[in-house]
Amino acid sequence: MSKPTLMIVIASTRPGRVGLPVARWFAERAEANGAFDIEVVDLAELNLPFYDEPKHPRLRQYVHQHTKDWSARVEAADAFVFVMPEYNFAFTAPLKNALDFLHLEWQYKPVGLVSYGGVSAGTRAAQMLKQVLTTLKMTPIPEAVSIPFVQQFIGVDCEVHANDVMETSATAMLNELRRWTDALRPLREEATLPA
Ligand SMILES: Cc1cc2nc3c(=O)[nH]c(=O)nc-3n(C[C@H](O)[C@H](O)[C@H](O)COP(=O)(O)O)c2cc1C
Repeated sequence: MSKPTLMIVIASTRPGRVGLPVARWFAERAEANGAFDIEVVDLAELNLPFYDEPKHPRLRQYVHQHTKDWSARVEAADAFVFVMPEYNFAFTAPLKNALDFLHLEWQYKPVGLVSYGGVSAGTRAAQMLKQVLTTLKMTPIPEAVSIPFVQQFIGVDCEVHANDVMETSATAMLNELRRWTDALRPLREEATLPA
């Protein structure tokens, strides 16, 4: 049986962002874990405009090619990890925008959060995001990677040098994500059956 697909989404888009090395580190751990096929989506590269569809996304009557392309990619994913900083105690605007574009494509899929920032480790942003995710019928899991004072883990090579807590929590999150991905599969299949 083929492996489920895990989409890792880089939620910060500014030049010089830490999101890139954090996502590279996590994607390496996800590849090594072996439970998923991995796809990394960089919201800076995806470059969606501000939400510009005329109809509610639950109708899936998309008029823009960028929405149809994003819909196909999210539809094909079975689980997600959002690599997300905290901006002003909240999640980033590009992440909310990317979520708002779609509806049914997100449903019954589990999400792990890799958050980072200063003293809060991005946890305020992560908690705030959960109410958006559950509205979309996603399942945010409690296992998380929460990185405080993220700069301390970035070396002169511009890569992440993780501590034991980060490594252990990444493994725990990936293992639980796979369990939730399997457990939610019947709901996903039911939702995609023809009427
Ligand atoms: C607009 C902005 C707002 C920020 N607000 C917070 C915040 O509320 N809490 C926090 O811990 N860090 C905050 N920071 C610091 C970020 O956590 C830090 O700059 C981090 O590197 C941002 O992620 P990025 O490099 O991937 O963009 C903020 C940074 C920016 C640019």
